[in-house]
Amino acid sequence: MSAGPLPEKFRKLDLSKRQELIREAYGVQPEEWEAICADPPLGDLSDILVEAAIGSVPVPLGVAAGFLIDGEELAIPMATEEPSVIAAATYAARILRQGGGLATWADESVMSVQLFLEGVSAEGESRLRREQSRIGTLVDQALSGMKARGGGYRGMELSRLRESGILAVELKIDVRDAMGANALNTASESVRPELERLGGGVAVMCILSNAARDRRAGARFSLPVSRLSPLGPEGMGGAEVARRIVLASKIAAEDEQRAVTHNKGIMNGISAVVLATMNDTRAVEAAAHAWAARSGRCQPLSRYGLQGGSAQRAGEQTLEGEIELPLAVGSLGGSVGFHPASRLALRILGFPDARRLSRIMAAVGLAQNFAAVLALVTGGIQRGHMKLHAARLAYLAGARGNEVRRVAETVAKEGRYSRERAAEILEHLRNGQSREGNE
Ligand code: MEV
Repeated sequence: MSAGPLPEKFRKLDLSKRQELIREAYGVQPEEWEAICADPPLGDLSDILVEAAIGSVPVPLGVAAGFLIDGEELAIPMATEEPSVIAAATYAARILRQGGGLATWADESVMSVQLFLEGVSAEGESRLRREQSRIGTLVDQALSGMKARGGGYRGMELSRLRESGILAVELKIDVRDAMGANALNTASESVRPELERLGGGVAVMCILSNAARDRRAGARFSLPVSRLSPLGPEGMGGAEVARRIVLASKIAAEDEQRAVTHNKGIMNGISAVVLATMNDTRAVEAAAHAWAARSGRCQPLSRYGLQGGSAQRAGEQTLEGEIELPLAVGSLGGSVGFHPASRLALRILGFPDARRLSRIMAAVGLAQNFAAVLALVTGGIQRGHMKLHAARLAYLAGARGNEVRRVAETVAKEGRYSRERAAEILEHLRNGQSREGNE
């Protein structure tokens, strides 16, 4: 039996055999292979982390330097394939530090796990309510390590699902520095028989909730509008730039389609840090978008407003930005801190605990959003994107090292964005250099 061009037992083969089969079956090109083919030690790591591994996808990792978060200087490791993300974050960090940087906060690391019980009578439900503290003790016994680190059971909520009549049991657990999926699922499995016995029903399933509504983080900044003056086009003062940023946030609040894109820009920053630290990007994104839509309409995760500058409130007018969203990330557990690339990212961040990591992510999300909205209301993002596009064309034309920047600059100056033109410029540059060398 085969699964397409691969044998059905593909996942059971050893790493080198899987790699050999993939190369043969798909006619993999040498540069494609080099791009995913990790050194043997990294290949072995991939093999431990996922099933049926054949290599790893080296998403570019960069560092956005110059962040000032809660008074601390920070460089932020970001993994992303989108060319403008790290440049925009760095740009925003440089501007925002002029107003004192970003201030952040985070909830305790409380997550929920849900058990869905079928066939629980009203008496069964009352019994469960009465026995809450015993259920809490059982959870803590199952999570003794977590309990010893100050975490553990934090409460239980019961609700009836209207249509199915299922009783939803939500156990709240402080998972400290873990993302928590394993701990929560372990806890729910261990109390499941007792919940079934007390409720007199059957658990259809139990699993953590990725909504993470009790595990939110936020950030804010305050920037004198004069700092925005040099950032708009000729003739647009800082007050007008600030007014437009505030208006952009109102537009996102009024128009759901815009809110989605606004939030996507935020996640450009957050997901890049989530991925660099090898946290769960899908969990964070699912929670963020659900939180944004909690009113029944998708709303922007960040808001902007103006403060001061009036006769009643002395002092310069400031642009105020803020963000709040669920951020269920760990600073250890799973791939976090286990994979050396994740350890490197955590090292650059100063080995933060989970709450600190979520605060940093919130700050990066707000900065990323500020950079995007600033660009959008002062002439558009295309200018910056075209510069990066020019660099890609230069690379595709064969430029390497310093040549990339030099060729890209000429392509952007001329405004002729084609690979052919980039190749001509490169040839010209190299001919010029070899003439200089011969002289
Ligand atoms: C592009 O990846 C992100 C933006 O579209 C975000 C936004 O529009 O706010 C620039």
